[in-house]
Amino acid sequence: MEKNIAVIRGDGIGPEIVREALLVLDKICDIYGHKFNYTEVKMGGCAIDEFGEPLPDSELSKCIASDSVLLGAVGGSKWDTVPGHLRPEKGLLKLRSGMGVYSNNRPAKIWPQLASASPLKTEIVEKGIDFIIVRELIGGIYFGKHETYDENGEKKAVDELVYRESEIERIGRIGFETAQKRNKKLCSVEKSNVLDSSRLWKDVMHRIAADYPDVELTDMLVDNCAMQIVKDPSQFDVIVTENMFGDILSDEASQITGSIGMIPSSSLGATSCGLYEPIHGSAPDIAGKDLANPIGTILSAAMMLRFSFDMVEEADAIEKAVSKTLDKGYRTQDIKTKGATDLIRVGCREMGQLIIDNIK
Ligand code: IPM
Ligand code: MG
Repeated sequence: MEKNIAVIRGDGIGPEIVREALLVLDKICDIYGHKFNYTEVKMGGCAIDEFGEPLPDSELSKCIASDSVLLGAVGGSKWDTVPGHLRPEKGLLKLRSGMGVYSNNRPAKIWPQLASASPLKTEIVEKGIDFIIVRELIGGIYFGKHETYDENGEKKAVDELVYRESEIERIGRIGFETAQKRNKKLCSVEKSNVLDSSRLWKDVMHRIAADYPDVELTDMLVDNCAMQIVKDPSQFDVIVTENMFGDILSDEASQITGSIGMIPSSSLGATSCGLYEPIHGSAPDIAGKDLANPIGTILSAAMMLRFSFDMVEEADAIEKAVSKTLDKGYRTQDIKTKGATDLIRVGCREMGQLIIDNIK
């Protein structure tokens, strides 16, 4: 098969981790006889430097025209002082909404090899951590009006949180469908004791639940959910939630699995053209030092093969190669348990190469 992939290396560690993921994809092409054509797209701080804005329309068009997009990470302190509407992160939000990818899927699964890297007690980890956060990605407070103005001699800032029934329904259906393919438990997370948008969220979830009689729907307030994720993560199968709650809970969920550097994500909308990115940021503090963990990006590439290109065997091959590499004790610094003498610390490039060597 031939596929056109838009590649956004971005800022900070972005170029290093994307390089490894592309080498993995090249190996897949060699083994399975596919051809992937890569189109470079500039987004984030590097695009601000070159074009004066984080994602020019011409760069967005390349993404929309592709079969899928692979993204590293964007942002860094160098661009902290640019006006809010020009920040690197605005490029990412424009990309997500421009591609219409409303459904962000973030797995929180502990690799057995990394159990000791989890900050949770062994008895909690042993009960199992394997759930998915389905995060609404192109609505809510991220996309409402953002304003700061003077009022009565002081500054006032307003961020608007809007959800329409149709937006809630389409992500809700993804939540139910995801649960149907797993253990059939869906937990809808909101703040309905305070927010109107959350009360609407809850109403819509219960209305559409009638179409999925095989799925057990529960509701949970977001503050309680944050607590339950560390208290007993084994209770969760699929969590569906709005944009900002999903942002916060997915960082928390990643940490209990050992490292945010391990977690991939897929974002999909109405078509098979998806956006695939690790959930971590650009980590400017370790950029260019060969310290980054490329696994989140490599697993994101595997998700691209699985969900957008229907290349199930190829995706399995990548995931198995990651597992085998971890089995052999290789660890980047973020997942190396302190004092463990049986583990071998490697850099970003070596980790990438080891995974490539383990692809069969
Ligand atoms: C994420 C990130 C982004 C978000 C930032 C970089 C805008 O934290 O993908 O989780 O908040 O969505
Ligand atoms: Mg985040």
